[in-house]
Amino acid sequence: MHIAVLTGGGDCPGLNAVLRGFVRKATRNGHTVCGIRDGWKGAIAGNVVEIGVEQVRGIVQRGGTILGSAGVSPEVVKNNRDRILAVLAENNVDALVVIGGEGTLGGAQILYETGFKVVGVPKTIDNDLSGTDFTFGFDTAVNVAMEAIDRLHTTAESHHRTLVVEVMGRNTGWIALHAGVAGGANGILIPERPFDLAEVHGWVQSRFATSYAPVIVVAERAVPADPDLLEQYGTHDEFGSRYIPNIGQWLTAVLQEQTGHDARNTVLGHVQRGGTPTAFDRELATRFGLAAVDVIDDGAWGQMVALRSTQIVRVPITDAVGALKTVPLERYDEVSLLFG
Ligand code: F6P
Repeated sequence: MHIAVLTGGGDCPGLNAVLRGFVRKATRNGHTVCGIRDGWKGAIAGNVVEIGVEQVRGIVQRGGTILGSAGVSPEVVKNNRDRILAVLAENNVDALVVIGGEGTLGGAQILYETGFKVVGVPKTIDNDLSGTDFTFGFDTAVNVAMEAIDRLHTTAESHHRTLVVEVMGRNTGWIALHAGVAGGANGILIPERPFDLAEVHGWVQSRFATSYAPVIVVAERAVPADPDLLEQYGTHDEFGSRYIPNIGQWLTAVLQEQTGHDARNTVLGHVQRGGTPTAFDRELATRFGLAAVDVIDDGAWGQMVALRSTQIVRVPITDAVGALKTVPLERYDEVSLLFG
């Protein structure tokens, strides 16, 4: 078969490891491979390049994606469906491997529903895709955030300051939870559990009372429970959900004013998803790439590779694009006794 591969959405450490594993096994199994540059954008533009083992040598440790990526909504894929099918036909593509998150895989499902042969590989640093226990990229993001938290503890203590660290996770608190626990944060705020400002204030004060300094980890979409605060300081996103933009900055100013202790904000941003993947992410991504070839050889179209416990399994792509995998509240509650 001639198989096309694309990487879509936000880049993610481990994408190149998937490509390497996939290309090496696919070519060994008698297939040829081409890459579509810049995700669905390249599929619409007809930006296709041939890929062989030569092109994937030495990239297991490289961050980003050698194919380039772009965030394109399923709506756009739907509106350009015929164009994409024409590009695939012009390039003699028999099957397409789509490596992406919810949005990119949503596009994959649209193409699959036309009868095209599609296979999915889940990707996101946020770890919020249903159907898989973990996505590659998450472990790297957590480790970057944990290292930052470790560093912030010492500067916070030196200056008797509150340090508020804002981490990524578009709609879920997985990165905040894992990095916060691993980094010994004195409070973790996630979107799944709107926070009580008085409680956060209490954690900060109790940390100062023991002569240490508090480090509070806040997920980018964490929100206060008080509807008046959300009303006063918030805005709506494109889906109508209310949130406070730059929540870390907002919380830092509020805590400084309320506690009387100096406070600083660190926003980790894209540093969490740049650079080299951890060993865990390289290994998981490689296994996903290898397993995607088996899905093709078995003709299991419309399926996505996924991790369940330690096994690589297959689930319908629709499992990943239906509902987000959010942090169960009991997972949050089990660590909350560490706060303060
Ligand atoms: O989904 C991955 C992610 O890094 C989120 O954690 C973050 O909210 C978003 O992408 C940022 O997107 P962009 O790179 O388009 O600003």
